[in-house]
Amino acid sequence: MADRRAGHDAVSIIAAKRDGRELSSAEIDWMIEAFTQGVVPDEQMSALAMAIYFRGMTRREVGHWTDAMIASGSRMDFSGLDRPTVDKHSTGGVGDKITLPLAPLVAACGAAVPQLSGRGLGHTGGTLDKLEAIPGWRADLTAAEIADILSDPAVGAVVCAAGAQLAPADKRLYALRDVTGTVESIPLIASSIMSKKIAEGTGALVLDVKVGSGAFMKNLDDAHELAHTMVDIGAGAGVHTVALLTAMDSPLGMTAGNALEVREALEVLAGGGPADGVQLTLALAREMLDAAGLDVDPAVALRDGRAMDRWRAMISAQGGDPDAALPTARHTETLTAKTDGVVASLDAMSVGVASWRLGAGRTAQGEAVQAAAGVELHAKPGDPVRAGAPLATLHTDTPERFGRAIDALTDAWTFGAEAVTPASPVIARITPDGVNVDA
Ligand code: URA
Repeated sequence: MADRRAGHDAVSIIAAKRDGRELSSAEIDWMIEAFTQGVVPDEQMSALAMAIYFRGMTRREVGHWTDAMIASGSRMDFSGLDRPTVDKHSTGGVGDKITLPLAPLVAACGAAVPQLSGRGLGHTGGTLDKLEAIPGWRADLTAAEIADILSDPAVGAVVCAAGAQLAPADKRLYALRDVTGTVESIPLIASSIMSKKIAEGTGALVLDVKVGSGAFMKNLDDAHELAHTMVDIGAGAGVHTVALLTAMDSPLGMTAGNALEVREALEVLAGGGPADGVQLTLALAREMLDAAGLDVDPAVALRDGRAMDRWRAMISAQGGDPDAALPTARHTETLTAKTDGVVASLDAMSVGVASWRLGAGRTAQGEAVQAAAGVELHAKPGDPVRAGAPLATLHTDTPERFGRAIDALTDAWTFGAEAVTPASPVIARITPDGVNVDA
């Protein structure tokens, strides 16, 4: 359809991007508005997304594209709170349950954490799917409920679904990208994430940009480009934004799957948990508190139980029972090592796909997930193993899924003879002034 209001039409805009021309702000505004209103149909927006995928966008274009997606809906405003607001966003990885201990930890240190999250699609799990493993817990809150929880001095952290009014253009565009092979475009990913985070009304934002086999960004150059683009967009919108590039070659922690990940998050909140998960939780908490202007050591709140108290308050505030038993799978199967050795690598993508095939993830929007399904790891890089020792336990309610999950894990582990020290999960830090400090 060629709607020529305001002198623009979709075909000319698609052709301009196809031919490598920079789009004007007026063209971007028109396209996003017409798409949101249903004047520009899916096939034209899909064609533009593909042209953007191949031609990219300048920083000016991507900043304006983000602004236009924010303007397609409403913005939340927490400026009336008596505490600074700060949020974290991860670009997604296998076993990434960091939001679970992080949000209550940062709230226990004096910030308000408004975390609007999504459900998982494909091999990476969604934070809401994980929390929905807790009996009674509710992801859908009204704006008034969100404001009440955030302003309650005993809670101060909320993890909930983004309402339909938040960047609706992104919701429609993301669903289209998902079925047109245009998800993996740096300007489209950056504008998608940042439009929701800016519309959410946070004062400061820390981005966890994952890089490696289990992440969107498979190499460091792309991860740097994505991080710089998002930090620029945040700074342009007046949101203090910092990014950490973190490793996603191996799964984070020892579990992938909804209830399994909640159990591990509880271990971290109780002062235990896997070293990489604790390290990353504290690194992100320090960045968030720094971005919020709070000079507090989060390790103390993790140690003395204040973070666990906040977790309990946060779960209760959303209808969950923090004392209820988490669901367990009806069937398990254990994979064992064939030879002695030291684990040299464990492929994150293989573990993510196995967990997904066991029922922890969905293949289409709206599908139900199994709360108890997933992979529990027993050996990660650096760990010595003996022949016959367990490498992983697979959990599912539907045992016919074991075969394909085991197929995904066939070559997941590699072994060496020498002990290796696992690398720090934080690779680099990208700040608003562009300084990049390799960790
Ligand atoms: N997450 C988002 O919200 N959008 C993307 O485009 C990719 C990941």
